[in-house]
Amino acid sequence: MKRTMKIGAALLLAGVAVLSSCKKNDDVTATPTQSLYLRLGGNAAISAVIDQFITNVAGDARINAFFADAAADPARLTKLRNNLINQVGMATGGSEKYTGLDMKTSHKNMGVEESHFNALVEDLVLALDKFKVPTAEKTELLTALASMKPDIVEGPVKLYTRLGGNAGISAVIDDFIGKVAADARINKFFAAAAADPARLNKLKVNLVNQVGQASGGTEIYTGLSMKAAHKGMNINDAQFNALVEDLTASLVKYNVQSKAKIELLTALGGMRADIVGQ
Ligand code: HEM
Repeated sequence: MKRTMKIGAALLLAGVAVLSSCKKNDDVTATPTQSLYLRLGGNAAISAVIDQFITNVAGDARINAFFADAAADPARLTKLRNNLINQVGMATGGSEKYTGLDMKTSHKNMGVEESHFNALVEDLVLALDKFKVPTAEKTELLTALASMKPDIVEGPVKLYTRLGGNAGISAVIDDFIGKVAADARINKFFAAAAADPARLNKLKVNLVNQVGQASGGTEIYTGLSMKAAHKGMNINDAQFNALVEDLTASLVKYNVQSKAKIELLTALGGMRADIVGQ
């Protein structure tokens, strides 16, 4: 980020120099000595490129799971859009101020891999090409963004770590048990456990260990198979979905990143056949 700020500052200085020479010549045509910001077309053009970029990312199955939460929440998406516009504006010499998190913090524990980074850059290039941004400006912008790569790409991170390890999983499961107990659609199944603290604790430990083990932790699940545990309960699809909804709400509450959430819910979805209709 520091390096990016430096690039931004250098570009900003170049921009100031160009602006004063513009005044003299009254020249509105972009010249190679203008700031990248001006050569890109300023805020309006950068905003149009970012909007197209967001559309491209949303349709890109290689990376859109990362952005599922933002895509589902208009306020969050607007914030991300503004952050991206301001970041590019500032880094290229505009007067925009980026007020978001630094790149290391905002991408920590997401498990962004080189292939994800490249996919995102491809989506940006498609947007830049759509607006016919010339090669020189495109290269300059991509070079500035490439300098952020070491802060963003961590390589594969275990689902377990992305869920927050044992502490993160335990917090989610605690909250989830509370939600299920209050959910009239399914709480009858858990009434006996809810009335017996030792049984409830055993259920909690089993759930934490099951999720821990399935996501790559060192926990060992010692409970029954899913088929045996749900035998005779006659659980239907709607009830299974209600439980998934409760778990999703707990994962959201604990800020589990959308890609990790989707991976965990997909793994649980694989157990549906052993749980429903037993
Ligand atoms: C040079 C490339 C990149 C830049 C400039 C960039 C920039 C940003 C910015 C400015 C934010 C907002 C920070 C905040 O909320 O304060 C952000 C968030 C985020 N970035 Fe990146 N990013 C890049 C690469 C990637 C890649 C490769 C991925 C994954 C494929 C990714 C995934 C995300 C996600 C999921 C968020 C959070 C969105 C939300 O839910 O609000 N980013 N990024």
